[in-house]
Amino acid sequence: MTTAFAIRRAALMEHLRAAGGGIALIPTAPERVRNHDAHYPYRPDSSFHYLTGFPEPEAVLLLCTEPAQAILFCREKNLEREIWDGFRFGPEAAAERFALDAAYPIAEFDTKFVELLGNQPALWTAVGHDSEWDARVTKALNAVRANSRSGKRAPGVLRDVRATIDEMRLIKDADELKLMRRAGEISAAGHVRAMRACAPGKFEYEIEAELLHEFRRHGCAAPAYTSIVAGGGNACVLHYISNDQMLRDGDLLLLDAGGEFEGYASDITRTFPVNGRFSSAQRDVYQVVLAAQEGAIAALQPGASFNDYHDVATRLLVQGMLDLQLLSGTVDGAIESGSFKRFYMHRAGHWLGRDVHDCGEYKISDAWRPLKPGMVVTVEPGCYIRPADDVPEAFWNIGIRIEDDLVITEGGSENLTAGVPKTVAGIEALMENRA
Ligand code: GLY
Ligand code: MN
Ligand code: MN
Repeated sequence: MTTAFAIRRAALMEHLRAAGGGIALIPTAPERVRNHDAHYPYRPDSSFHYLTGFPEPEAVLLLCTEPAQAILFCREKNLEREIWDGFRFGPEAAAERFALDAAYPIAEFDTKFVELLGNQPALWTAVGHDSEWDARVTKALNAVRANSRSGKRAPGVLRDVRATIDEMRLIKDADELKLMRRAGEISAAGHVRAMRACAPGKFEYEIEAELLHEFRRHGCAAPAYTSIVAGGGNACVLHYISNDQMLRDGDLLLLDAGGEFEGYASDITRTFPVNGRFSSAQRDVYQVVLAAQEGAIAALQPGASFNDYHDVATRLLVQGMLDLQLLSGTVDGAIESGSFKRFYMHRAGHWLGRDVHDCGEYKISDAWRPLKPGMVVTVEPGCYIRPADDVPEAFWNIGIRIEDDLVITEGGSENLTAGVPKTVAGIEALMENRA
């Protein structure tokens, strides 16, 4: 894996060189205090980790195109702190282990950065991302300017390095896809376990615990985002995360959850009956959402625009809503007026990678960008029906979403999360045989 990180650094250097070169800074994420001296579990910055694999806080990657070098600044070894908080690589071992040209103590960062910055054509950093970081960078630039009599100029150009890294991260390499496949497998197993454990009278958090159990036991550091475990009408709250209500016989349960494996997210939604059998109204709506999801997946092709599968999903959902008499009129009319948004108010998916809503532009010069092999998207249409006088009561509180993760391939797409059933027959068979 060290090789994959070195290859990414070399690729970033090439991009920077092609754009005039200079020095790039990529700091990792700060530790966050939860309260007093207790911290949240540490997670490195996604882009920093993408380029280094280095897991510790208080670290900065500095890339220089001329002379070409990759330098890490990190914490020093400290026996006292290691007894309390755990192992630290220290600069010497870090340089060796992570194949960097050099590594220095983080305490030397400001001084060394000023030394290296003189006469560089540009400084590439995450401009405006973090005000403390911006202030630190400004201080270094001013230190070079203040010393201009030494013959060193401060770079006249400040550029956003994130945009370049984001575009690289949008196309996943073979090592990343391997990890994303594993994240998908584990997360699918979590959903299967949750379906098996589901029964009327249990609480939403008991099902959440089944997901977490499966994610952790296969090595996921954490869920990739807060799990949504929404019984009955709670599924009509798109960002429901309280997960504290009892599951009722006759209701559906919507689970939107995925594990984070080696820094990579999975993002799966399944909706299934709490008692293991769909009612006829539930089945009718479910088949509409499933047809929309399958149609949208079939539209994933290299060269298709990012928006194409959203359009396919919307048309199929709207046709289904008309068939169920949730809407009246025509498909084009409902799309034109937006009347369907009452039941389907989000888009059909997003980029997926290290971050659940991953980086990368969706449009280039105002046009939806074409899909390319190596991009990973979610496909997640839904239908959410709140109680209303003009809606048949049998549909009230049905909230359904079906979500899979797909990598674009030369011939179409590969489903990373196919390990959990999503047909009515598949779900009912799995639940039939549960303990
Ligand atoms: N779980 C977040 C999403 O589906 O976008
Ligand atoms: Mn999701
Ligand atoms: Mn999603």
